[in-house]
Amino acid sequence: MRGVIAGTGGYLPARSVSNDALAAEKNLETSDSWIVERTGIRQRHFAAPGETASAMGIAACRDALAQAGATVDDVDGVIVATATPDSAFPSTAARIQGGLGVTRGFAFDLAAACTGFIYALSVADAMIRAGQARGVLVVGAEIYSRILDWSDRGTCVLFGDGAGAVLLRAAQAGEGDRGLLSTHLHADGRHGDILQVDGGAGSTGGTGVVRMAGREVFKHAVTKLASAVDEALAANGLGYDDVAWLVPHQANIRIIEAMGRKLHLPLDRVVVTVDRHANTSAASIPLALAEATRDGRIKQGDLVLMEAIGGGLTWGAALARF
Ligand code: COA
Repeated sequence: MRGVIAGTGGYLPARSVSNDALAAEKNLETSDSWIVERTGIRQRHFAAPGETASAMGIAACRDALAQAGATVDDVDGVIVATATPDSAFPSTAARIQGGLGVTRGFAFDLAAACTGFIYALSVADAMIRAGQARGVLVVGAEIYSRILDWSDRGTCVLFGDGAGAVLLRAAQAGEGDRGLLSTHLHADGRHGDILQVDGGAGSTGGTGVVRMAGREVFKHAVTKLASAVDEALAANGLGYDDVAWLVPHQANIRIIEAMGRKLHLPLDRVVVTVDRHANTSAASIPLALAEATRDGRIKQGDLVLMEAIGGGLTWGAALARF
């Protein structure tokens, strides 16, 4: 019994900050044209001082439940992918569970950086297939604005804050091949230092901010994502023509365009939010799903291919029939 994405939801903090505004606010030697040309990013949202990943996650979950026509009684568990939890514990998932008023089932956080949503989706689907749960809220919630080095212009311009969520529920009789067809997870810890947070809870040093070797990450992204999408399609005996929508992790428009070209998909069949959201890490795919299901692009029956890469290195892909 596979998991079906029954509802999607998203939340973006109210404050949006353009490239020019960011440069002025953080005193950065950069320009709108440099950032747009290299990344496609035009603006990002930043959380307000008191805002937390769990508060944003709760809003995204409510949105997902509403779209699914479900209530908290349909939720057996909450899995949150985040690199910016409210605290080491309680987990952000437990805080979201409590905030929603869910009083049963499980709640835990999962760390796979920008690949976190694909990882969380895979775990939730496996639990549904194993009969451990019938409905799981799968959430990505991130406040990277609190872990950026504002003197590192090569990194700090790339990220934004936000949360996205889906309700994954067990497929019901008569739903045909709706649901997650397969997920494919990878990690190679040997490359951990090219994209990392150098410190944090339990660490013996560092400053607790994101450090990135941008070019290295870019090279890994293009090759590893290409192999992950091929793996997902091959595992299901499907080809590029079968894909209705590519919903990629939103890190950089050049990486997204490279994936579109690889899949022979024109950009109008690729969901792009990086221009407005920047890289919201684990939140980027569910935020994009929330947008494209609401504006009518992704329809029931569409085959949707998702892929992501992030710190770890971690990467993966998921194929779902909506
Ligand atoms: N504004 C202006 N100039 C900048 C800049 C900025 N915000 N950031 C870096 N530069 C400068 C560099 O200092 C460098 O100058 P130099 O040649 O005088 O030394 C020059 O631009 C080129 O830097 P480089 O890092 O080689 O640029 P790039 O073309 O590789 O682009 C990234 C940088 C970060 C945009 C690109 O590498 C990238 O997108 N990588 C992937 C990152 C990513 O997606 N990470 C998340 C994955 S989940």
